[in-house]
Amino acid sequence: MAPPAMHLQSGSVSLEHSVASESIVTLDQVAFGYDSRAVLSGISLHIPRGKVVAVMGGSGCGKTTILRLIGGQIKASAGQVSVNGRDVAALGHGDLYQMRRRMGMMFQFGALFTDLSVYENVAFPLREHTRLPESLIRDLVLMKLQAVGLRGASALMPASLSGGMARRVALARAIAIDPMLMLYDEPFTGLDPISLRIIADLIRELNDALGAASVLVTHDVEASFRIVDHVYIIAAGRVIADGTPDQIRNSTDPQVHQFVHGESDGPVRFHYGEGAYAADLGLGPRP
Ligand SMILES: Nc1ncnc2c1ncn2[C@@H]1O[C@H](COP(=O)(O)OP(=O)(O)OP(=O)(O)O)[C@@H](O)[C@H]1O
Ligand SMILES: [Mg+2]
Repeated sequence: MAPPAMHLQSGSVSLEHSVASESIVTLDQVAFGYDSRAVLSGISLHIPRGKVVAVMGGSGCGKTTILRLIGGQIKASAGQVSVNGRDVAALGHGDLYQMRRRMGMMFQFGALFTDLSVYENVAFPLREHTRLPESLIRDLVLMKLQAVGLRGASALMPASLSGGMARRVALARAIAIDPMLMLYDEPFTGLDPISLRIIADLIRELNDALGAASVLVTHDVEASFRIVDHVYIIAAGRVIADGTPDQIRNSTDPQVHQFVHGESDGPVRFHYGEGAYAADLGLGPRP
């Protein structure tokens, strides 16, 4: 009996390995600027299947821009963005639409349709993207609402939800079509500590249940480090550090340390743009 068992074991290990290392998103030396101002200058990162990866960095460093490049809303000026092995910039309208059908996006404030019930909000992408019969849509909607703990709220209108509940409905809607890739832009903004923890745990659980990959853009070090596998820190258009949450937390790099420990004083500047304040006030020469 022993040899077949060993064979099975080694087979399953290598299968797990190949699934785990399969990259859903790859950015290879990506550069991008709005007009003439460079925002990203040579970003490389990869998001493997099954993983939740945080993209962090100061305000304005280009995190939302990275999500827009992945979603194909904008195109890199240099380098390549691939999703599921395909160059996003090379996709035509039809292929881009197909690709987006397999992505779930949850943006800041959730943005539910205010004149549709919770049930209809979650059903919306299913009606938009599939021709499933009503009975199946109903089962899927209730399953998704069950997953975020809100099956009992299906008849409510968005106006009667708390902020945390609305975010959970948005999450249920984002996973309605079983995406292979989830993109979250600041999903924790404005939530109390309990709701925040619930949303963070859901992001992890839903990723694992779907066998998807998730990109989590956030400033919230505590909430995200608890649930992510890997962290990228962006500054001045580049990846300045990446690693597991523990590696990042223990980093001795002054910029990383400043970010992780929320220090207002350090190498990362609070002010946008160039030029000394004193010079702008006419108090001295420009450097
Ligand atoms: N549509 C646009 N046109 C011109 N500049 C833009 C546009 N969108 C963003 N920017 C600029 O690009 C830079 C990166 O913006 P982005 O929204 O990606 O930052 P972010 O890291 O998501 O910031 P935050 O944490 O504040 O959301 C910023 O300096 C911003 O001013
Ligand atoms: Mg942003």
